[in-house]
Amino acid sequence: MPSLVIVGAQWGDEGKGKIVDALAGQADVVVRFQGGDNAGHTVFRDGQKFVFHILPCGMLRPRVLNLIGGGVVVNPRKLSEEIALIRLPEREWRRRLRLSGEAHLILDCHLALDRCAEAQRGNRKIGTTQRGIGPAYADRAARTGVRLGDTLDEDYFRAQLKTCLAAKRALLPKALARQVCNVERVARETLKLLRPFRDLIVDTSILLEEARQKGKHILYEGAQGTMLDISAGTYPYVTSSHTIAGGVCVGAGVGPHALDRILGVSKAYATRVGSGPFPTELQNATGETLRRIGGEYGATTQRPRRCGWLDIMQLRQAARLNSLDGIILTKLDVLDGFDKVGVCTAYRWGGKRRPEWPASPVDMAKAEPIYTFLPGWQQPTTGATRFAELPAAARAYINKIEDWLDLPVTMISIGQDRKQLIMRRKVF
Ligand code: GDP
Ligand code: IMO
Ligand code: MG
Repeated sequence: MPSLVIVGAQWGDEGKGKIVDALAGQADVVVRFQGGDNAGHTVFRDGQKFVFHILPCGMLRPRVLNLIGGGVVVNPRKLSEEIALIRLPEREWRRRLRLSGEAHLILDCHLALDRCAEAQRGNRKIGTTQRGIGPAYADRAARTGVRLGDTLDEDYFRAQLKTCLAAKRALLPKALARQVCNVERVARETLKLLRPFRDLIVDTSILLEEARQKGKHILYEGAQGTMLDISAGTYPYVTSSHTIAGGVCVGAGVGPHALDRILGVSKAYATRVGSGPFPTELQNATGETLRRIGGEYGATTQRPRRCGWLDIMQLRQAARLNSLDGIILTKLDVLDGFDKVGVCTAYRWGGKRRPEWPASPVDMAKAEPIYTFLPGWQQPTTGATRFAELPAAARAYINKIEDWLDLPVTMISIGQDRKQLIMRRKVF
């Protein structure tokens, strides 16, 4: 299968980074197609930790070409900081990276607007990562955004920037507007930061078409997760991009036939960071245990993640919305010490048992999860290399998930390391 899409099947932080890094060993191209540095994708290599925010997770592989697609929003300052952090010689990272001219820029005014918008929402805060994501995508939709490709011609760039910043001045407190809306200052700084990347800005859609024609293996790396999708997620508590598989086409510049297989990454339980509905959240000692054992603190903001049991109704939504061909189940090892493991297998609201996701916010507020409890295995799984080596109760848990979702669990992750991964079938 030459092109494989990896998306988050829950609320983000499912372990996509680890999976993409592991699969990148078989890939020729890795593509980010949406989101920005709100993402935090953790990769361990030889015990060393890397957290990718804007760079694709194939950057550590010498023979992989990494693309930042047109659907991504790029903060030039964060891009140059992250390039420095991966500690590759300049010649090397330049060989491995290309950026789409269609990608929009995140500027300081977007960061300021993100903070102001959150403050104004009071107790209805989204709990954003404060990376300027919403305002940058809002500018794209309002046609007042500035694109990476615009910076290639300085006069054109200044004209675009002028329109963009003029629209922001009225929205920000005066002192702040003076700081972040000065056209000349922003132009100079942005051009300086982007100078090393200038000749890496290309038409990534054409590169992908060429790669596909040569039969190259292309890995699409989703950011965030299905329930954070701007349309299909728990609106308004979502991010501002299309995180589902449909987002690949518009964000990478490929047609729907270019996607051969789609896999959704899910933890063996569930987490969410930021505000918004999370019906299986456990605000008790069990939730705290999941957080402690799972190390559930945000890779981007270090905020504690909310933790709870796996939700089959939610995963069925993800299966439908993404056309999932299978599930990659991560962090199974976090459940090793539990004597029983809960799974939400239906909801109850309006006096009825309902085998569906409460999609409207009004139903969501009333819905109560109905749990099925399965026996825990209370044995370590971290050393297993094959499915058969997992404890019987862990295998039974996975088999039940497959039955409930009518989907295969194709890979199982049982630790942070690249090697702690059980491959049940060939995915590429
Ligand atoms: P992403 O945003 O989907 O890439 O996920 P994050 O990197 O934000 O969060 C996942 C966290 O879980 C990271 O700290 C990973 O190192 C860690 N992780 C990934 N897979 C496993 C696993 O199978 N077991 C354990 N214990 N940790 C894992
Ligand atoms: P990865 O790729 C988890 C959440 C934020 C907030 C909402 C909107 O690491 O899985 P934004 O800054 O995007 O406007 O915030 O989305 N969020 C994530 N949660 N993982 C992520 O990325 C996230 N990116 C954004 O916490 O609730
Ligand atoms: Mg993350």
